[in-house]
Amino acid sequence: MADSRPPLSLVVLISGRGSNLKAILEAIDAGELNAKVCAVISSRLDAKGLDYARQRRIDTLALDSNDYPSRESYDRALQGLIDRFSPDLVVLAGFMRILTPGLVSHYQGRMINIHPSLLPALRGLNTHQRALDDALHEHGASVHFVTEELDGGPVIVQIRVPVLEGDDAETLGQRVLEQEHGLYLQALQWIAADRIQLSGGQLLFDGQPLDKPLQLT
Ligand code: GRF
Repeated sequence: MADSRPPLSLVVLISGRGSNLKAILEAIDAGELNAKVCAVISSRLDAKGLDYARQRRIDTLALDSNDYPSRESYDRALQGLIDRFSPDLVVLAGFMRILTPGLVSHYQGRMINIHPSLLPALRGLNTHQRALDDALHEHGASVHFVTEELDGGPVIVQIRVPVLEGDDAETLGQRVLEQEHGLYLQALQWIAADRIQLSGGQLLFDGQPLDKPLQLT
């Protein structure tokens, strides 16, 4: 049955390639996600991902950190831009900046991120190389609400990806990325259907507390 809810309005933040953004836009085009991307904001003027939005005549904006004297002033400008579109949800899709506490608290429960590891393992950068360095047999990706703690907010859903013999950071990263797209879509579908909420720091799935991340197989 078609969802009678209004589409979830999204502002998507990117910094580069934008393959997660592309997957979100394609899912919307295909009628698989009841959402609307109101704007795409990039921290880099040359982010390739901006093209996917431009092709669909979605508003695109780029905020260059060189134009702002401090992280706080950048984030104030970013918040002003995002709020122009009054989105239901802010979606970080490869946005390569550490956010200030003020920005994060403004969007508490309304901002999600995708991270290429099985959080809480491997927060931060270079997760694929670090998974190999640690000789992990299993790696993956997580979608989580954003809190002040870097890559530390409540995890909604994860997907596990095997580390194979002979993997390097590139082959492993590619295998994880292929799974990220379906993972982000699943999380967004649940949020669009109002099945996931963050309430007072507690994750709820269908109104019940979720104490462990959901696992996508
Ligand atoms: C993804 O691996 C995502 O998990 C991480 O940054 C990368 C963005 O890739 N946060 P893309 O720009 O969506 O292709």
